Amino acid sequence: MVFMLANLLEKGNFILTASVYFHLRRFQVPYLPSSKDQTLNIMKLLEGRTGRLADLGSGDGRVTNLSTYNNVTAFLAPGVMEVLGEKLLKELPDDARVIACRFPFPNWPQQSSVGSGLDQTFAYDISSVRSHLRKVPNTVS
Ligand SMILES: C[S@@+](CC[C@H](N)C(=O)[O-])C[C@H]1O[C@@H](n2cnc3c(N)ncnc32)[C@H](O)[C@@H]1O
Repeated sequence: MVFMLANLLEKGNFILTASVYFHLRRFQVPYLPSSKDQTLNIMKLLEGRTGRLADLGSGDGRVTNLSTYNNVTAFLAPGVMEVLGEKLLKELPDDARVIACRFPFPNWPQQSSVGSGLDQTFAYDISSVRSHLRKVPNTVS
């Protein structure tokens, strides 16, 4: 996916400053790249966006602070989405968009989604997620 996003960079749509290091070493998860269709779905949901992009699940296991990123993509595993959601809500700026491939964030309202089945990909705008969670009690925030 990083290569396809780098193509976007050449078109001037993105400033791709870094992949974010998110492999949790203790799990020793093997690296598996997204398929072309999955990557295209992610790119559709990022259309028109500018700024910095972090692709979680592409690095060496280090977890970084995401407060300077306004676009985040995540294609990880269902078991990490809730705790990842908490981190993103704490750190991301209000204008950030988060894209999740295959595994949605529990309790987050989707802005839109593309694809189906294993390739389904979800977009979330952090400002909408925050205002939704403020209104709905007893959910993870
Ligand atoms: C489907 S791949 C996507 C990789 C890359 N982002 C891309 O689009 O090509 C998901 C990656 O996330 C990593 N991953 C999955 N679950 C993880 C976890 N709990 N902690 C850290 N990394 C995880 C895996 O190593 C895998 O390489």
